[in-house]
Amino acid sequence: MAREQSANTSKLTDTELSTAAVWAGEPERSPHGATVMPVFHGVTYAYDDLETWRAVALGEQDGHIYSRNTNPGVAVFENKLAVLEGAEAATSFATGMAAISNTLFCFLSPGDRVVSIRDTYGGTNKLFIEFLPRFGIEAVLCDTGDHEAIEAELARGCRMLYLETPTNPTLKVLDIKRLTRAAHAAGALVVVDNTFATPVNQQPLALGADLVLHSATKFLGGHSDAMGGVVCGPAALIDELFHFREINGASLDPMSAFLLARGVRTLALRVERQNGNAQAVAEYLADHPAVAAVYYPGLPAHPGHAIARSQMKGFGGVLSFALAGGYEAMAQVLSRLRLAHRAASLGSVGTLAGPPSTTSHVELSAEERARAGIPEGLLRYSVGIEAATDLIEDLGQAIGSLP
Ligand SMILES: Cc1ncc(COP(=O)(O)O)c(C=O)c1O
Repeated sequence: MAREQSANTSKLTDTELSTAAVWAGEPERSPHGATVMPVFHGVTYAYDDLETWRAVALGEQDGHIYSRNTNPGVAVFENKLAVLEGAEAATSFATGMAAISNTLFCFLSPGDRVVSIRDTYGGTNKLFIEFLPRFGIEAVLCDTGDHEAIEAELARGCRMLYLETPTNPTLKVLDIKRLTRAAHAAGALVVVDNTFATPVNQQPLALGADLVLHSATKFLGGHSDAMGGVVCGPAALIDELFHFREINGASLDPMSAFLLARGVRTLALRVERQNGNAQAVAEYLADHPAVAAVYYPGLPAHPGHAIARSQMKGFGGVLSFALAGGYEAMAQVLSRLRLAHRAASLGSVGTLAGPPSTTSHVELSAEERARAGIPEGLLRYSVGIEAATDLIEDLGQAIGSLP
């Protein structure tokens, strides 16, 4: 595994991915031989001769001019992600939402149609229903599990298919290969939000997608201490997106890039543990008499299990469940949990729990949540890297003797 390896479009094996998470994108030589790329807080870069300055400014020579455009530490994070996703290139953003909104506004124009699903992350859904229409872009949101309906909308013609799988918060699973085939037949660009799965579990580009994006704030960073977003894909598309971002200015800040790159180095270890924890917790909850439903693609009874098995290596670290006692029971269980932060977000080393009505889907009205199939008493549970036995014991005492 070459350190500065990037621009590699082949799918990595598990072992290659573990090694790439540590070594890919790292410079051969850091200043003073530092074994960790330092944070370059300086916003501007000096050149003694005008010729070199001009060549770098025009992109004819490697180098940095101004941190809104490029930064050495930010490049480490981007190159790492490009390798992990099997992409030619990657470009980063201040947040996951910045990655998503830049991707939509860069590749869509007035008069275009984008086909997507009802269950995207709440902020993404707001872009579809509130902002894109203001710019004359039609967003068609299909029932998430209904592959035929999505294919029918694609066949009517569209510029982009935008997917998220597994979805937030009911963990529905979409067949990326099948839908990509239909989208490409219609001449559409395929974008997949891979935040929940991470490249350890799922590699959408290898399944045919054109662009894969992440809220790096979640599993990639992994410690709930830095925000960021990233989009990976072919160099030509990433160049176009990079240009759009350098002008609108939604750049990743160097300190966050440092923290995110540090998180990515342990990604494979963390995600493997989180896959195991989530599976164990989901199986425990599925057998609990006070639990009405468990949503986790690793459970054979989950409607997306077969597709998940065919396109994912692991089923991820997020599950959600509904209690037989509804909203009141959920609120009680949540208040009794000892090994979980009652907080928004997911993908951290510490377990995070919260209902979608105050977290991922707070932007939606109760009617919009109901239409998206999200029960008001649902609890999303994003496992950390704690011992599974401790998480199960904690859930056991929190659920206690609820009916
Ligand atoms: C699947 C998914 N995509 C995108 C986002 C937005 O990311 P950020 O909060 O970094 O803007 C989130 C946030 O929860 C998410 O869950």
